[in-house]
Parts: sequence; C-alpha cells; structure tokens
Amino acid sequence: MAKLNEKRSLFLLSALVAVIALLAAQVKPAVAATVYTTEMETCVRGIVEKPEKRIDLPGLVRLLFHDGFVRGLDGSVLLTSTPFNTTNFATKANLAGPTEQGSPSNGGIRGLGMIDEIREALKLINVNASCADVVAFAAREATYVLSKTKIKYAIDGPGRLDGVFSMADEPGSNLPGPSFTYAQLLGNFTAKKFTATDLVALSGAHCIGDTHLLPFADRLNLALAVPPPGPNEINATYQGVIREEAALPGNMTRSFKNNIRDMGSTAVADSRYTVNEVDMTAPVDTLDNSFYNANLQNMVRFKSDWELRTNTFARGLMVTCTGTTPTSSSLTSRPP
Ligand SMILES: *[C@@H]1O[C@H](CO)[C@@H](O)[C@H](O)[C@H]1NC(C)=O
Ligand SMILES: *[C@@H]1O[C@H](CO)[C@@H](O)[C@H](O)[C@H]1NC(C)=O
Ligand SMILES: *[C@@H]1O[C@H](CO)[C@@H](O)[C@H](O)[C@H]1NC(C)=O
Ligand SMILES: *[C@@H]1O[C@H](CO)[C@@H](O)[C@H](O)[C@H]1NC(C)=O
Ligand SMILES: *[C@@H]1O[C@H](CO)[C@@H](O)[C@H](O)[C@H]1NC(C)=O
Repeated sequence: MAKLNEKRSLFLLSALVAVIALLAAQVKPAVAATVYTTEMETCVRGIVEKPEKRIDLPGLVRLLFHDGFVRGLDGSVLLTSTPFNTTNFATKANLAGPTEQGSPSNGGIRGLGMIDEIREALKLINVNASCADVVAFAAREATYVLSKTKIKYAIDGPGRLDGVFSMADEPGSNLPGPSFTYAQLLGNFTAKKFTATDLVALSGAHCIGDTHLLPFADRLNLALAVPPPGPNEINATYQGVIREEAALPGNMTRSFKNNIRDMGSTAVADSRYTVNEVDMTAPVDTLDNSFYNANLQNMVRFKSDWELRTNTFARGLMVTCTGTTPTSSSLTSRPP
C-alpha cells in the first residue's frame, strides 16, 4: 500500500515538473537561471499555508495552467489592461478590448490577491520576483500544501519575464474546453509539447477545486446538450445526485466541488461511489490520485474528464494510478 501511494505521488510529481519545465521553456529567461532558495520557499509557503488561504489554493494551481498554456508563463492572465490596448502591434490586427481575464475560460479565476501579497513579501527579503515568477512559486507551494507535502518539485528561481500582451480571445483558443473530445484535448496538449501522459496526469488535478454549473450542465440530461451524454458517459446514479444539487436555487452563481469525495458523505453514499483505495478522511481539496478512481466509475463532472476513458492508453494509465489493478509498468511509459 505504502509503496503504491508513493508511486502515485511520484506520477503527479513528475507531471507537474514537466509542466513547470515546459511552461518555463516557452519564455526567454531574463537572466541566467537563478536559484529558488530555501529562504524564498519559506517566505512563499508561509503565506500559502495559512489556513484562511486554503480555499484559494486550487485557484493557484489553475492560475499556473491558465497563464502558461496561453502565451507561456508570462503573467498575462494577471493583467487587467496593457499598454497596447488601442495599438495595432505586429500581426495582431486589433488589440483593443479586455485582457485574458475577460475570457469565459477564466471565469471564477481566484488567488490573484495572494500573488501580490507574495511578491511584496519577497521584496522584504530583497528578492525581486516577476509576476510570472510568483505564479510559478505560488502554484508550487499550493501543490505542496494540498498534496499534504507529498508533491515537492524542483523549480528555477526568479528571472522569468512578464509579458505585456493579454487578449481575451486567446485563452478560448488555447485552453482545452470542458466538452472536448479526447482527440481535441490531446491536440491542445500536443500543440504545447505535452504528451498523453501529461494530459492524464494534469487532468488528475480535477480532484481539487470547484466549478460553476455551465461547464458540466451538458452532462445532466436536461435537454441542454445536443447530443445528450450517452448511457456509458456518466453513471446514472451519480448523475441524479449532481442534477439534484444543480437544481438548487442560485445554481448559476454558486460553485460545485469537482471531486465526488468533497461533495459530502451523503452524496458519496447516494452515488454508490466505490472507495477502493481513496482516502475518504482527507481534507477537502486534497491533491492525490482520487480523480482516476472516480473517473473509472463515470463519476466526474466534465465530459472532457470522461473522454480519457475512451482512449486505451489514457484509460490504462488511469487504471494503474487508481491501484485497482496495480501494475508499475505504465507509470513511466509513453504513448506510442
Ligand atoms: C485596456 O482595456 C481594458 C478593458 O477594456 C480597460 O479597462 C483599460 O482601461 C484599457 N487600457 C488602456 C491603456 O487603454
Ligand atoms: C529590486 O528592484 C528595485 C527597483 O528596480 C531596485 O532598486 C532594487 O535594487 C532591486 N533589488 C534587488 C535585490 O535586486
Ligand atoms: C485546441 O483545440 C480546439 C478544438 O480542437 C481547437 O479549435 C484549437 O485551435 C486548439 N488550440 C490549439 C492551440 O491547438
Ligand atoms: C437551476 O435551478 C433552478 C431552480 O432553482 C432550476 O429551475 C433549473 O433547472 C436549474 N438549472 C439546472 C441546469 O439544473
Ligand atoms: C452506477 O454506479 C453504481 C455503483 O458502482 C452501480 O451499481 C451502477 O450499476 C452504476 N450505474 C450505471 C448505469 O452504470
């Protein structure tokens, strides 16, 4: 058991290292690679691990993904306006209008205040970090805290450059959407030099955080989706539970926990969720491999989550990572 858990942590770990390395590679470093010192780590973690911040920590992981996946890790998701709003620049015909934050893909974006707070705190220890640096540091420490210290990856120090472009139409054409097919998901990942293994690993982060109703409304069989989900795409018992939850007043503004484990013991029992090796005593928003166990039972929110079931390689990797049929072989394997 212990051995298995260790393997699983390592799986997520290596995937997150890959994200950081790839996203970092997409921007030219301002200076030679610098070191993320223990002092910086202590400073950033000191803020991120405060109990009152926990609610926003999944938002920090999402922020890294939503920033890096668009123009490389450049802080562009943080900008509310840019100097080029009204200027034609290079090949971009029209830069007027809102920034990435105005994209529907960035609905519910959070944790922005913590980025400022961390940057100020780093200044007090004489570290000038860019906004892009802080997005990377914050996500790293959020991952450490949410994984109960199991995921701790190496990261470069300050030196990333902040971008000055940010356009509301770009996240929508770069970030994978919640109703994408497997081929579309992989297409977007491949475009950013990620593999199918990375896709499965990073999807695992849907075990933390919240969603609004719209991204999964097509899964509720409310005549909203054309075509509606097929009988094998979502467990009917679970579907009934999340449909009931979604019918509560205020459903368009409230948020819903991504992970069935975080929906409460009644919802878990009513869905007839099979626990397998998932730690049901873990605090809300614990970053572990529970996503795979839920997905293999068709108990995940988004169609794009479920789509991982349709590919033999992706499905096999999820089976390995739930421990229901433990084999170590596919942990390091790459798709053909
Ligand atoms: C850029 O656009 C945003 C959103 O429309 C606006 O709030 C901001 O004032 C604009 N900035 C400039 C410099 O024009
Ligand atoms: C940080 O930046 C400020 C403003 O550019 C500069 O005055 C200061 O010397 C820098 N500090 C360090 C430690 O690089
Ligand atoms: C992401 O996938 C969608 C759907 O296939 C596609 O329209 C979009 O161009 C893709 N974006 C990138 C950057 O590959
Ligand atoms: C949202 O809630 C209202 C009533 O509170 C309900 O009529 C509506 O169908 C719900 N929407 C969905 C998608 O479940
Ligand atoms: C939903 O999951 C429960 C519990 O595993 C199972 O008994 C039931 O057959 C599933 N329903 C469908 C339609 O797959």
